[in-house]
Amino acid sequence: MTYAEVIEHARTCLGTYCKGCPECNGRACRNQIPGPGAKGVGDTAIRNYDKWKEIRINMDTLTAGGPVDTACQLFGRTFRYPFFAGPVGAVNLHYGDKYNDLTYNDVLVTACAEAGIAAFTGDGTNPDVMTSATKVIGQNGGMGIPTVKPWNAETVCDKMNAVRACHAFAAAMDVDAAGLPFLKNMTPPAGNKSMEELRSIITDAGIPFIVKGIMTVKGACKAREAGAAAIVVSNHGGRVLDQCPSTAEVLPEIVAAVGNDMKILVDGGIRSGVDIFKALAIGADAVMIARPFVTAVYGGGEEGVAAYIQKLAAELTDTMSMCGAHSLDEITPDMVRL
Ligand SMILES: Cc1cc2nc3c(=O)[nH]c(=O)nc-3n(C[C@H](O)[C@H](O)[C@H](O)COP(=O)(O)O)c2cc1C
Repeated sequence: MTYAEVIEHARTCLGTYCKGCPECNGRACRNQIPGPGAKGVGDTAIRNYDKWKEIRINMDTLTAGGPVDTACQLFGRTFRYPFFAGPVGAVNLHYGDKYNDLTYNDVLVTACAEAGIAAFTGDGTNPDVMTSATKVIGQNGGMGIPTVKPWNAETVCDKMNAVRACHAFAAAMDVDAAGLPFLKNMTPPAGNKSMEELRSIITDAGIPFIVKGIMTVKGACKAREAGAAAIVVSNHGGRVLDQCPSTAEVLPEIVAAVGNDMKILVDGGIRSGVDIFKALAIGADAVMIARPFVTAVYGGGEEGVAAYIQKLAAELTDTMSMCGAHSLDEITPDMVRL
């Protein structure tokens, strides 16, 4: 199955909101929530996408040839590529009922593990989502990252018990989910976390903890002080706050402030292996991609995911080779033009 076939098939079963665009750029679904769009006027997801495209690649083929190694080390594990599938929750609401969160995570986690990368799983008000996600991560040798919403302390504690039991190699929390319209006034409650609350969650976790939803140097420093092993520079694809800067715009200053102390991932509008190369060149250790993995699952199940991963891998390898980078460590800022 080619990636083009995956997209074509996805268009037949994606529900009414996602249009299955050849490259997901935030425009067709703009501010459509429910649906994969963004909050308010809906230009943050578009800006995420556009800013990666403004960065250009400086090719240099007067370098030694030879094989290109895309392996990425994180928290003592080696992954085949420096990209991960991002967490997406309530897929049936946003993308149609061909899948629900349980069946979606089953396909995504398994297909990613088979391809040598990990999937982040989302969380929801239905407790079965976390139970099922941790089960499939356990079945795949802990190859997956459950992403817990910023619930109240008791609920986080229950969910973290499930995370530890499945031997996931890391856990994450999308702290920016405090801004999700559907989480407001819910039971259990979810919302902002003070640094003390975050520190206590991270200490109790006992495994590498990733704070997702950091957009400022100030936020990154707080996550570091609370004990996070990594952050994801992310604005939740524009879904939690209107009029944010893009992640590509803020990444360099965050890398300069905390890049020596913790791992830095980034997401938002990253769509190709070329975009992944750019993110690594400006300082990310790895990237996450969310919406296109949904299209891949809807369009081709495990085979669809494998096809998308192959496409990303081929593009990344080609770009590295064209710039003379034989390993991720050899990708340097001078290889891109800002
Ligand atoms: C429909 C939808 C549901 C999402 N659900 C979650 C979630 O449950 N947890 C989470 O951390 N992020 C969630 N996200 C945010 C993504 O993980 C990611 O941060 C964002 O979409 C930006 O990446 P992208 O441009 O590659 O999609 C969701 C995004 C979408 C579009």
